[in-house]
Amino acid sequence: MNYDERLQHVSVLGAAGKMGSGILLLTAVEMADLSLKPENKGKAFVLNAIDLSDEGLAGLMDYLRAQVLKIAEKKAVWLRSVYADRDHLIENYHIIDQYINDVMRIVRPTTAMEVAYKSSLVFEAVSENKDLKVKLLKQIDQNNPHKTWFFTNTSSVPIHFIEDEAGLKGRVLGFHFYNPPAVQKLVELIVTANTLPEASAFAGNYAKALGKVVVPSNDFAGFIGNGHFMRDALHGIHEALDLAGDRPLTEAIYMMNKISQDFLVRPMGIFQLIDYVGVDVVQFIMKVMNPHLADEDLHSDLLDNMMEQGIIGGQHSSGAQKDGFLKYEKGVPTAVYDVEKKTYVDISQFAASCDEALGKLPESFVPWKNAVKIKDKDTHFGPYFASFKGMDSLGAKLALRYGKRSDAIGRKLVADKVANNEQDVNTVMLTGFFHAYGPINNYFND
Ligand SMILES: NC(=O)c1ccc[n+]([C@@H]2O[C@H](COP(=O)([O-])OP(=O)(O)OC[C@H]3O[C@@H](n4cnc5c(N)ncnc54)[C@H](O)[C@@H]3O)[C@@H](O)[C@H]2O)c1
Repeated sequence: MNYDERLQHVSVLGAAGKMGSGILLLTAVEMADLSLKPENKGKAFVLNAIDLSDEGLAGLMDYLRAQVLKIAEKKAVWLRSVYADRDHLIENYHIIDQYINDVMRIVRPTTAMEVAYKSSLVFEAVSENKDLKVKLLKQIDQNNPHKTWFFTNTSSVPIHFIEDEAGLKGRVLGFHFYNPPAVQKLVELIVTANTLPEASAFAGNYAKALGKVVVPSNDFAGFIGNGHFMRDALHGIHEALDLAGDRPLTEAIYMMNKISQDFLVRPMGIFQLIDYVGVDVVQFIMKVMNPHLADEDLHSDLLDNMMEQGIIGGQHSSGAQKDGFLKYEKGVPTAVYDVEKKTYVDISQFAASCDEALGKLPESFVPWKNAVKIKDKDTHFGPYFASFKGMDSLGAKLALRYGKRSDAIGRKLVADKVANNEQDVNTVMLTGFFHAYGPINNYFND
């Protein structure tokens, strides 16, 4: 089966979810483009969008149509050449409408899992629950005569467990998109000891067709991205709890969020990132990773406490940020949650005194949105972080400790053979987390 044939009958499980909807969009567009190749004329391309939720599927089709319109507008010139033999397509909007129809008619929204029994490729993006994933994949495989390949989007479950438990020897791999899949460039590709070389070669070609940057990760719980993020998040939480010996935890959270964002020049602070991903997702990923780690305990009582109080973060269906550790107004943090008093405390009440306690940023500070554009990172960030070493402020001390810890986490991922090399760790954090510089560097050496 060649590339085009493999993509002729595909299913996405969990298609109405955050990840599934993006995977569906990307795959629908790739399949539509293949269907428009002269050699594929007359062949049916089918993409099943499978989800439990009827409502979610209805919303999915609206989302898909709106996104395909944007994509079509961007490739109107190419589409004009593709539709050159269709005389009735004259104006740009005719061409765009035709393309939207060509994409939409491939997609079949359904709640019936059985339609996947005919697929030769299945993307799995249902909730992060190993038993559910295993059950669905096993059911499809046992009823599907095509020796189908399964690409799972799990964030944390080692792929070989899914392979073993679902009896999929060689036909499953981790194709770990980042959120949102249509925008994020990174894909972590995880194979098991058995994965068929042709399946991983296909995965590489498919990722390339989607314009993704592929980083191979070895098959350890959490892989590279979450392997770094979970430990980095715990560092931020522990530092906040330590600071809370002298001041309220709300202030300490504000301070560590500022250290990890401004001082470390990251796109968002660590507590904002936890809220963005969702306290529930972070807690869950740690739970999945923990039994696989001999020498570490990835766990936080503070996260448990937030969960018990139902303060979870994540996004509204509009994409707006839900409140978590921080409260947001138009995406900007305005208050910090007080777990004792079960209420938010306005940042304006303590920001000035906390900022003063942290001390100033070095003069060479460049905010993240400009720093990401700097070409020679070492020339900028080397001296920037070196200047903290000459400063006697709390902020400088916390920033140096944070940077060192982040570097050590990255190096441990290589030492533990989760990542093949330092460059792969850095690529994941630069591409998947939009860091301005890789965590493995020499900026924080003594
Ligand atoms: N959200 C992220 O940032 C992110 C990033 C990378 C990977 N992932 C992984 O992607 C997967 C999906 O995560 P998500 O954030 O999109 O979750 P989500 O909750 O947004 O979506 C899950 C979807 O699966 C559907 N579903 C649940 N049970 C089902 C069943 N039995 N049959 C069919 N559909 C079912 C739900 O209705 C929902 O639409 C998880 O494995 C997660 O770890 C998530």
